[in-house]
Amino acid sequence: MAHIGRYLVTAEDCKARSLVVRHYDAVVIGSGIAGLWTTLKLLSLGDLRIAIVSKLSAHECNTYYAQGGIATVVSPEDSFELHFRDTVEAGAGLCNEEAVWVLVTETPKRIEELCSLGVRFESDDEGFKLAREGAHGIRRIIYARGDRTGCEVEQVLLSRVRGAKVDLIEWAFAIDLLTSDDECFGVLVWSEHDGKYMALLSSVTFICTGGIGQLYDSTTNAKVATGDGLAMAYRAGARLADIEFVQFHPTALVERRSQRLLLSETVRGEGGILLNTDGERFMLRYHPMAELAPRDIVSRAIFYEMRRLGKDHVLLDMRSLNAEFIKRRFPFIYEQCLERGYDLTKQPLPVAPAAHYIMGGIEVDLFGRTSIRRLFAVGEASCTGLHGANRLASNSLNEALVFGHRAVGAASEFIADGHPDFDPLALLPSRMVVGKDVDFVHMRSGLQKLMWESVGIVRERQGLDATRSQLEHWLSAIGHVPIDVRAWEVMNMLLVGRLIVESALMRTESRGAHYREDYPIRDDANWAARLVHRRCLSGFGIKVPGEVITVNVIKVRERRLAASD
Ligand code: SIN
Repeated sequence: MAHIGRYLVTAEDCKARSLVVRHYDAVVIGSGIAGLWTTLKLLSLGDLRIAIVSKLSAHECNTYYAQGGIATVVSPEDSFELHFRDTVEAGAGLCNEEAVWVLVTETPKRIEELCSLGVRFESDDEGFKLAREGAHGIRRIIYARGDRTGCEVEQVLLSRVRGAKVDLIEWAFAIDLLTSDDECFGVLVWSEHDGKYMALLSSVTFICTGGIGQLYDSTTNAKVATGDGLAMAYRAGARLADIEFVQFHPTALVERRSQRLLLSETVRGEGGILLNTDGERFMLRYHPMAELAPRDIVSRAIFYEMRRLGKDHVLLDMRSLNAEFIKRRFPFIYEQCLERGYDLTKQPLPVAPAAHYIMGGIEVDLFGRTSIRRLFAVGEASCTGLHGANRLASNSLNEALVFGHRAVGAASEFIADGHPDFDPLALLPSRMVVGKDVDFVHMRSGLQKLMWESVGIVRERQGLDATRSQLEHWLSAIGHVPIDVRAWEVMNMLLVGRLIVESALMRTESRGAHYREDYPIRDDANWAARLVHRRCLSGFGIKVPGEVITVNVIKVRERRLAASD
């Protein structure tokens, strides 16, 4: 019996807790911008029964913490072609150019809709105010409440959803998708409120669960970002793509906790500079765009400066900016730093990179369709190939808006034809092998440290091999998975970590956010391709000892190279 088998729980567990079965037209898992926007779009289709499943309180998600803004073409000096070019260049030759074009051309319309719902971006007589971030050739980032764009968006969308006819199920952990023959019929959920399992049966299911930042010791991500969507999709047999590409944000405040305060790239866009601990402005040694180089380059430069000088941080210096301007433009960052004892108008801040975003995810087409019928994915959990090997700053909230809209259009055909009734318990294994109890808390922190050290900004074979062995060891040691959200999260984190390591080992080149010190050169001849994982139960695959996971990595040459190649 595989410990990471198809499902994390058994029919026996569910029966013992009297499984509640509910029927919906659509179930949305996740309550960040992707989940809420998708829900609002579904509501526009008519009188549907819709549920949103949220792991904690609905607002506790990465969207809420997003600072920078949304990249969109509004300035007369800008054009779709320029936004396209910057996105593709940042993506290091691996962007799906069709997806990029869809994003840049459809974002303005979705922004109009967002504004009509009540989201207020900062503007003046000339229209939206525009910020600049790394790798953008021009100012094109619209923003709200200074540095609280995500909070503004989340609050407006959430209030719309709360006012609508939607079952918003908070404090509910989505455990596994209910599938049969590569078709999805809903999701199995654990309600923390009443300690019960729920089978939410649905014509269509949307995974909008965001990213995986919590796999790393240091992250800007909310505590919900444990890769649950990727893990459950993989267990169900969906394809995952590009997951070796994990973006590290260059500037998170160095503090003694794993969820670190993000210091937006717009700070550098307004003139903030980076100094090493010797007081030298080092970025010009690494890239002509200096502090506004693509994110992967800035993060790596910081990593090397810290390593060279034996320090755990560099400095972000904003002292050349007017103090009143700083307080008005970055009120949240200013207040948060002050609470932690730093006055950023007077002193430079200790910063270091932190895990921020995964470019890969559940493989989808340009309409959010996964490889499983009736299953869609939107936002960070999904992978259209839009971001290639490195996401351009502020191209994520718009991704959820554009592809959420498209996914709902595609899902409507399934909603119209309904779905067969079936017994969810018949899908689940009858019981699991009861084995050794393990310390999931210990495993979680061990995994975060290993991922940070060996599968982080800079990677090489030895560290990746050692991490793979340790993850396999942990996975094979797990016998009994208790009914506990924290244990299920760790199962998901180990699985996704294991898959990321596999891809990182396979990709013997450096590109975008994936940097191998033992293969430092980009190798287009061999690696202008994507790596796809699909769980397979037989045939070719890499078998983990004890058959804990069966991994099947496929190299797919389906990218169109950037124009320059
Ligand atoms: C930031 O404000 O620096 C983050 C923006 C992003 O990740 O796109």
